[in-house]
Amino acid sequence: YVIGVDLGTSAVKLLLVNQKGKVVQEVSKEYPLMQEKAGYSEQNPEDWVEQTIAGLSELAESFSGDLSDIEGISFSGQMHGLVLLDEQKDVIRPAILWNDTRTTAECQEITERVGKDTLLQIPKNIALEGFTLPKILWVRKHEPENYAKAKLFLLPKDYLRFRLTGQLHMDYSDAAGTLLLDIEKRSWSKEICEALDIDPDLCPSLISSHEAVGNINEEIVKKTGLPEEISVFAGGADNACGAVGAGILEEGKTMASIGTSGVVLSYEGAGDKSFEGKVHYFNHAAPDAYYTMGVTLAAGHSLSWFKDTFAEKIEFDDLLNKANNVAIGANGLLFTPYIVGERTPHVDASIRGSFIGVDSSHETKHFTRAVIEGITFSLNESVEIFRENGKVIDNVIAIGGGAKSDMWLQIQADVFNATVIKPNSEQGPGMGAAMLAAYGSGWFESLQECASVFLEDAKTVEPIPENVEKYKELFTLYQSVYASTNQIN
Ligand code: XUL
Repeated sequence: YVIGVDLGTSAVKLLLVNQKGKVVQEVSKEYPLMQEKAGYSEQNPEDWVEQTIAGLSELAESFSGDLSDIEGISFSGQMHGLVLLDEQKDVIRPAILWNDTRTTAECQEITERVGKDTLLQIPKNIALEGFTLPKILWVRKHEPENYAKAKLFLLPKDYLRFRLTGQLHMDYSDAAGTLLLDIEKRSWSKEICEALDIDPDLCPSLISSHEAVGNINEEIVKKTGLPEEISVFAGGADNACGAVGAGILEEGKTMASIGTSGVVLSYEGAGDKSFEGKVHYFNHAAPDAYYTMGVTLAAGHSLSWFKDTFAEKIEFDDLLNKANNVAIGANGLLFTPYIVGERTPHVDASIRGSFIGVDSSHETKHFTRAVIEGITFSLNESVEIFRENGKVIDNVIAIGGGAKSDMWLQIQADVFNATVIKPNSEQGPGMGAAMLAAYGSGWFESLQECASVFLEDAKTVEPIPENVEKYKELFTLYQSVYASTNQIN
């Protein structure tokens, strides 16, 4: 067996997975989010550690097999969050998370001092509020006493791994989201550190996602009841692990994940292509590979917001079933899902969403359909950027909440004009972490081989040519909305 730990934003999920890739046990433990001011989002790293230990203990206690058969453990982590450690390796202040947007001024400073060209050449991404480097600059400017104490920075799952093993590392896929990594050379960028006056010693040692860092330490063995021989493997960023867990492990593979946010992610064999910063470009958790990714900030979030606000009493399945009876285009109603701003393609934190074409004949079902179509159009903007840059996208692996509805799978197929494949595993990042532990433990020669045993296609949906044509027209209309609504704020 192996354990995949998915350290998310609202909870840590632990999966116990057997050698065939079946999840035999699953535990989830929540922790709070601290939102002291508008735009702030922080968490207490001690909560991650405590809840993971509680989850591991529960897993060990309820496991009916032999605990010594558990060979490895690895991690998937929420990206970009800043954990600062002092000389004694104690946490200095709460972690500032990926969805914290206080750093607009620091992003401007980075762009001015480093230069956009250098950003696109070295970390291969433009400066965004969510990334780690602007958070480091924010602490330096606003909390100089904390910055003076800082000796090292880590990302969330790296801190968790440190507490389980005593070893300090960061893996490439997560380091890529800091804006301090030279993506192609796989080393910390001296040039960026120099341009911003950052001590390179703040950066931890780098490691590959499937590499072993050691064993769980005595304290954790005592607290959880797990055997001390369990090997600990580095793990990766949640999106990279999600890609591993969906089998995005070779050129030509693309996935669309619709959760709270939406992600279109595509495998890249090399780190030397240019997308001009239009999509994120990160190191993969698979050895020597990369991925590009477009993000819709409010995907599932747009639908849950709509339901909570306008259709609270209707069951979720009911809401979707009714929308399924509405024809393509929701009777002239169009929705843009910018309710918390948008990343791809607009990189605009202040844009807001819209319903356009509201008619007195429209009912809740038309609005629901428009919301689902609008979310899918937003993801299609990422698909189109990939295509414009020469990628062939004939099929898309669909995961997350958006893959649970047959109607939404068909809408994805028709809007993306691609075959949509739903895999058997819905675990995404946690399964990816388990696969890294399985590969690291030597069960397989490669992650691809692991995927061929662990993952299966459960459902395939083909685009319907007539629908594709209708959606093409509507998508053009959708794209034109941004330019007229971005002046409203
Ligand atoms: C990616 C991003 C999010 C987090 C969520 O750039 O900010 O997907 O990784 O955990």
